[in-house]
Amino acid sequence: MKTEVIHTKIHVEAGTKRGAEIIKKGGLVAFPTETVYGLGANGLNGWAVAEIFAAKGRPADNPLILHVSRKSDVKPLWLRKPRHADILMDTFWPGPLTLIAPCSDLVPDEVTAGLDTVAIRMPADKTARLLIQKSGVPIAAPSANLSGRPSPTRAQDVLADLDGKIPLILDGGPCRYGVESTVLSLAGAPTILRPGAVTREMIGALIGEVRVSDSILAPLQEDVPAASPGMKYKHYAPDAQVICVRGAPRAAAKKINELYRNAERERIACKIFATEQTKMFYNGKKYVILGDRNHSETLCANLFSALRDSDVQADLILAEGIETGDYGLAYMNRLLRAAGFQVIDVT
Ligand code: TXA
Ligand code: MG
Repeated sequence: MKTEVIHTKIHVEAGTKRGAEIIKKGGLVAFPTETVYGLGANGLNGWAVAEIFAAKGRPADNPLILHVSRKSDVKPLWLRKPRHADILMDTFWPGPLTLIAPCSDLVPDEVTAGLDTVAIRMPADKTARLLIQKSGVPIAAPSANLSGRPSPTRAQDVLADLDGKIPLILDGGPCRYGVESTVLSLAGAPTILRPGAVTREMIGALIGEVRVSDSILAPLQEDVPAASPGMKYKHYAPDAQVICVRGAPRAAAKKINELYRNAERERIACKIFATEQTKMFYNGKKYVILGDRNHSETLCANLFSALRDSDVQADLILAEGIETGDYGLAYMNRLLRAAGFQVIDVT
């Protein structure tokens, strides 16, 4: 299959029209959102949704998010509107917040992976919204990467993973946030299953107490059932080994330099994920600056593309850890998973 790429910064109407034709026929379309690129299919058609799992090599028990273009479109999908849903939707939609609630019979088992709940979000990205509108159905979409790989934040990342496997990629340029949406379950006590740009602090300020799932910063225990099945799987991992070094900037940089020198001695190609505050410690070494340590937004926006780019150049990636407050939680959640929870603490 030839994979066509249409630039929606220029051809948004034509691109989304073509995309909607494919979705209506049960096909797959990769499209930009403000978080990461999604791989979409008609979310009410189980056969079409099954194609997503095949293209990504995604485990069948990992449910998908339905994407809608209007708030009122959640009505037929949820069994009933959960408590707090209205205020959360009014505040954060369209945007990077996914809400989970008990689902109606309209939602196919392929979307929910057999659970009795469904995850829904309304993306802010214009291409995404036009594609959903023109398709006339909710679009089921996971991130448009091969299962286990870092999520794609640029059309070229989608192409690297799915070229020849899907008919169309809508290229809207780099994604604004670069990490996936916050996933908040409203099926019981409000619980964040995956942190994102809508933070615990922001949600808490609106609805009061909100829990954070244990598996966000730690590997899931073998005998504990996963609240979010996606947490079980190896995630965001490049082929290169990733080590996260946590601690004060100067101490972390010292440790990273030591690891770098050891790797060099063994002729292992190495890359450092540095920050504005620490770049001066890495003179003469191969590093990339992800952003300001105190500005998690930028670090998040650059993490997945840096993982993908560095994977080509290095066999070992040494990354600084940051504080886990606010948006820092989303960064550390992705980085720790990419590192397979290999962490060195220097505090
Ligand atoms: O920003 C995003 O959310 C992107 C863009 C494309 O919208 N999508 C995305 O989808 O990240 P995906 O499939 O890569 O991640 C969805 C996560 C998984 O961890 C999945 O297990 C969880 O949401 N999830 C989906 N439905 C669920 C449900 N009913 N109960 C618990 N977890 C659910
Ligand atoms: Mg994903």
